[in-house]
Amino acid sequence: MEDFHARTVIITGGATLIGQAVAESFVAAGAGVAILDIDAEAGAALADRLGPAACFLATDITDDVRLQQAVEEVEARFGGIDALINLACSYLDEGVASSRADWLQALDINLVSAVMASKAVLPAMRRRGSGVIVNFSSISAQAAQTGRWLYPASKAAIRQVTRSMALDFAEEGIRVNAVSPGWTWSRLIEEVSGGDRERTDEVASDFHMLGRAGDPAEVAQVVLFLCSDRASFVTGADYAVDGGYSALGPEQRVPAIPRLAG
Ligand SMILES: NC(=O)c1ccc[n+]([C@@H]2O[C@H](COP(=O)([O-])OP(=O)(O)OC[C@H]3O[C@@H](n4cnc5c(N)ncnc54)[C@H](O)[C@@H]3O)[C@@H](O)[C@H]2O)c1
Repeated sequence: MEDFHARTVIITGGATLIGQAVAESFVAAGAGVAILDIDAEAGAALADRLGPAACFLATDITDDVRLQQAVEEVEARFGGIDALINLACSYLDEGVASSRADWLQALDINLVSAVMASKAVLPAMRRRGSGVIVNFSSISAQAAQTGRWLYPASKAAIRQVTRSMALDFAEEGIRVNAVSPGWTWSRLIEEVSGGDRERTDEVASDFHMLGRAGDPAEVAQVVLFLCSDRASFVTGADYAVDGGYSALGPEQRVPAIPRLAG
């Protein structure tokens, strides 16, 4: 396993199921982990469970002053910052009916705050002489999904700004990549499916080559890899962690030609 001892990782949105898996995998690899989230209950419970290697800082990432404070607290506590995982998100999306306020809020959380968090950790990474940022994009960044306008646009934008950041931070030894998960067992999917994993996999199997939804730990492993020294020549990339969703064409997993025969 990759050794993250003496490294510190900030995870925004770390209180959620996917965030928890990312936090757990970094702690297991020896890192110090700071979870920044507005969900104080879940965040504090996770930090308790992970022990002294982890801490929770109640932080609204749309608040620049609080974000700056939190980053300074993390650096003071752990002695530096080596990686930032921009995982927090909003699913606020009413499609065409979305108001200007909705658009600004969704983009604020999913795009602008990820950029602001990256700017906030920059001085600490400069002091280290290196750093890694992983932004969360999604399969939704490149496919039309009916009724969804805000979330996919925000995820496409974060994918593009990943490239801009990668280029402009490269000289400082800071690598920036994105991950794009497919359907992953998460709070929303658990809620909507009534906790039915079997049903979730059955529905997901139509449009994920691997025939199921992903596990949070499977996403976490790719994030861990991107932050590790094994990914030392990887920057500006978007890693699909989607069981083949994005490589599947419109014919999906069903042979189309036989349908011509009636
Ligand atoms: N769930 C999936 O199937 C899936 C698929 C593709 C991509 N993703 C991406 O994975 C990431 C996690 O998704 P999820 O489904 O687990 O999300 P989620 O909605 O369960 O969790 C989002 C987290 O962000 C936090 N958050 C929201 N606003 C915040 C703010 N202003 N400040 C600080 N924290 C805030 C929430 O409290 C929550 O803990 C997201 O970036 C999402 O776009 C998820």
